[in-house]
Amino acid sequence: MAHATISAPLGARTGSHRAKQVAVALAWAGVVGLAVLFVLKYVFFYYRHYDPVSFDPYWPRRGWLFLHISAGTLALLTGPLQFWTGLGQRNLTFHRWTGRLYLVAVGAGIIGAVGLSATTTFEWGAVNGI
Ligand code: HEM
Repeated sequence: MAHATISAPLGARTGSHRAKQVAVALAWAGVVGLAVLFVLKYVFFYYRHYDPVSFDPYWPRRGWLFLHISAGTLALLTGPLQFWTGLGQRNLTFHRWTGRLYLVAVGAGIIGAVGLSATTTFEWGAVNGI
């Protein structure tokens, strides 16, 4: 008697894998979306309103602020890219160079933050909290 072997369709086994991929993609979209919204609302403000009134306490410290927010934006945008190219082993030469760029951006952002906090007009306790 002949036996028929029915194997599960290829898609059935990968169903939960696909759901996981979609969940991970949505989580990343959320993280990157929040970063973009933050930059649009709080960072772009200073590029669009370059005047003493808009900058208020940051005007005398605008060099530190621009270093902090420009490098911070670069770090925010290159950070998730590192996970994407690294975990997927996509274009590792590109991954290495954007990784270096990320480290430089983080370093410059920290220098800007230290410059800002050293010259802050806010309460020291509040700045330490940041
Ligand atoms: C752990 C990371 C960070 C630290 C420790 C930090 C620290 C600081 C400090 C000390 C100030 C100045 C507070 C003051 O004296 O007025 C500041 C302001 C600011 N930072 Fe950051 N920062 C960080 C990350 C970021 C990132 C990633 C961005 C976005 C690119 C960013 C955007 C800003 C902006 C826009 C201001 C001006 C705030 C305002 O408009 O009132 N920061 N930050």
